[in-house]
Amino acid sequence: MFRPAINIAELRARARRRLPRLVFDYLDGAAEDELTLHDNRAQFAAWRFCPRMLCDVAERTLSTRWWDRPLAAPLAIAPVGLAGVFWPQADVAVARAARAAGVPYILSTASNSSIETIAREAGGDLWFQLYVINRSIADGLVERAERAGYRTLVLTVDVALGGKRERDLVNGFTQPFKLTPRVLADMIRRPHWLSQNWRGAPPLANLVTIEAPDAESQAALVARRMDASYDWSALQRLRDMWPHRLVVKGLLHPDDVHQAFSLGVDGVVLSNHGGRQLDGAVSALEVLPEISRLRPDNLVLIDGGVRRGADILKAVALGADGVLVGRAVQYGVAAEGETGARRALDILTDEMDRSMALAGVAHISQASPELMRRAAPTAS
Ligand SMILES: Cc1cc2nc3c(=O)[nH]c(=O)nc-3n(C[C@H](O)[C@H](O)[C@H](O)COP(=O)(O)O)c2cc1C
Repeated sequence: MFRPAINIAELRARARRRLPRLVFDYLDGAAEDELTLHDNRAQFAAWRFCPRMLCDVAERTLSTRWWDRPLAAPLAIAPVGLAGVFWPQADVAVARAARAAGVPYILSTASNSSIETIAREAGGDLWFQLYVINRSIADGLVERAERAGYRTLVLTVDVALGGKRERDLVNGFTQPFKLTPRVLADMIRRPHWLSQNWRGAPPLANLVTIEAPDAESQAALVARRMDASYDWSALQRLRDMWPHRLVVKGLLHPDDVHQAFSLGVDGVVLSNHGGRQLDGAVSALEVLPEISRLRPDNLVLIDGGVRRGADILKAVALGADGVLVGRAVQYGVAAEGETGARRALDILTDEMDRSMALAGVAHISQASPELMRRAAPTAS
């Protein structure tokens, strides 16, 4: 019998065995020397629990509220573009897994299923992530998201240019695939994937008009050629135009967080984009204590490097309202489709529950910095 994966590392290994190398590297890789990618994990490892004992932890709750909305656990699915290349209809599969787990799903602008398809086929607490390729396309996407019932908009602001992702450059990762002999040889070694995905991902569904795909915008989105002139006044305009919850993703500097909240945004995601943009950027977890000391009234989420349930507990203890989970769930869908995405969410919530019990935390709202210590440097 096929045993369910025990942890996220195992789902990653299974994804690696199923995907051609160029697809796995697109998912797994990051910018330049991948310093920030590795640091995202190292920062979690640098915090240790100083657990409390003899607390009654017989009944535990992971559930929380973001604004007035209840969630089963303090996490949401991070927006991930081109997921259709991991598994057919991966966006729908992950959105359904999120709904089943009672957590929000954030649909990327660069998704392979459209805003409307996800609303119809998955439902749940849907958020839409906006990339601004140009202002008129962005306005159109925002209108569609509102019409389809999305009530939280996430503006990603850390992509003035695409990061230099060297694994993708070496492998020749493009969309649609350019079938060079090397790419073909890579794919032929992965027959299960090939039988389902040989065409690559379907078009970027949000940029397909009734007449035809908008090829130019699709190419800009794949290359992450965004509107690099987007600034605080443009954010103010978006704030004035969007009547529901607005979250800004990709901030790291405390002054930027302060400015975003003073413009009236409802939440921020401290993020370095999973190490895929500015290599050498700090990790969200590193700046979190500094930002939570400002005691913002609004939502503060972090992402980057969440691979264990204990990471979520650490983030909350250090002042975050919760986390976004990127690769951890995508490894699941890439390995086993919707079953794998559900498995990833089960693993994370089960580990989080166990860590809470062992740390003496019955309710997630009781997690506080008092529980955490910096790991002592190990003797070399
Ligand atoms: C394959 C891949 C594609 C991504 N696409 C997007 C995207 O379209 N929009 C966005 O805001 N962030 C995107 N991100 C960044 C994630 O939303 C998130 O910030 C990051 O993955 C968190 O780090 P983690 O993967 O270590 O959890 C992408 C990340 C990956 C791995």
